Amino acid sequence: MLAGCGSTPSANDSKEIKIGGNFELTGGVANFGKMTTNGIQLAFKEANASGGVLGKQIKLILADNKSEPSEATNAITKLITQDKVPLVMGPVASSNVLATLQVSQDNKIPVITATGTNSKITVDNGKVRPYAFRSCFIDPFQGTVMANFASKSLKAKTAVIYIDNSSDYSKGLAESFEAQFVKNGGVVVGKEAFLQKDQDFKSTLTKIKVMNADTIFIPAYYEEVGKIAKQARELGITIPLIGTDGWDDPKVVEVAGAEAMNNTFFSNHYSSQDTDPRIVKFVEAYKKEYGQEPNALAALGYDAGLMVIDAIKRANSTEPDKIRDALEKTKDLQVVTGVITLDANHDPVKSGVVIEMKDGKQTFKEKINP
Ligand code: PHE
Repeated sequence: MLAGCGSTPSANDSKEIKIGGNFELTGGVANFGKMTTNGIQLAFKEANASGGVLGKQIKLILADNKSEPSEATNAITKLITQDKVPLVMGPVASSNVLATLQVSQDNKIPVITATGTNSKITVDNGKVRPYAFRSCFIDPFQGTVMANFASKSLKAKTAVIYIDNSSDYSKGLAESFEAQFVKNGGVVVGKEAFLQKDQDFKSTLTKIKVMNADTIFIPAYYEEVGKIAKQARELGITIPLIGTDGWDDPKVVEVAGAEAMNNTFFSNHYSSQDTDPRIVKFVEAYKKEYGQEPNALAALGYDAGLMVIDAIKRANSTEPDKIRDALEKTKDLQVVTGVITLDANHDPVKSGVVIEMKDGKQTFKEKINP
């Protein structure tokens, strides 16, 4: 930082507060980036319409990380050094978030992910990362929810875990699912892996079929989930397929077809069908703005936007360290997906939901409190 150098324009001495947005705007999980930024933009728009933040207009400066970790590192570097933002929101996917944390730490610029659930984002080898925050629950919770769902609701005694080996998210979830499923008395009868961008899953699925398990746990993102479900059903695998928040995109049904997705279930952060008044109000406002139903990413983006606004107001400053200190003290903040109070690890403790796919539609099955 060139502090004290009068000719260097600082991002935030104007009438605007510029916030960085490091997002998956193209590439493998571009739909995730789009939905999350839609949510953030709505929160900022509402704040700007009602007087702004510290009397200024808050604005999201976007950089595309192309859904790749190396590009996510480039994007945060650009946002910090060129745009001089005091805080960076995003990315969506855990592996991409993890790839930005060294730059965040070196520059002492806080990062907040609305969606990255891998536990290592906030805690590295038992040490809390001072500049990393999130506004969503973490994967040990999500993995436990789905293991309990398999044991209790599906009465599954055996499971196969099918892992995306290119994703920290998938690997972390596989571990927490297995730990809880085994604790419940279940047996993991097989573990298989694939990589993002794979097209043909049939040889592995043929192997999985003969394992004769009661369910297959697939912690992965929508592109691959759609293909896996389609190919599994084509091979005559009729057992329940279960997964996690990465399934939350209409593309899954587009690729797999509505029928293949019957008898599938996944954990998520919220359901747009929930009758909670906060959710109803958000869904209405979002539909009015964008003409479509907000999925969990849109809700989480909106909530992260609220968390940033709340922190800047309490900090009464746009200095990165003051925003960091205020973020750390986030408490009882009412948002769409629950109430955010950060624990000592910079993680909120929030409820989750299980969604069932029925004839191509997401249906709200149960709400689970931590
Ligand atoms: N939790 C996912 C990750 O960490 C991202 C995600 C969040 C995807 C919410 C869909 C919905 O990579």
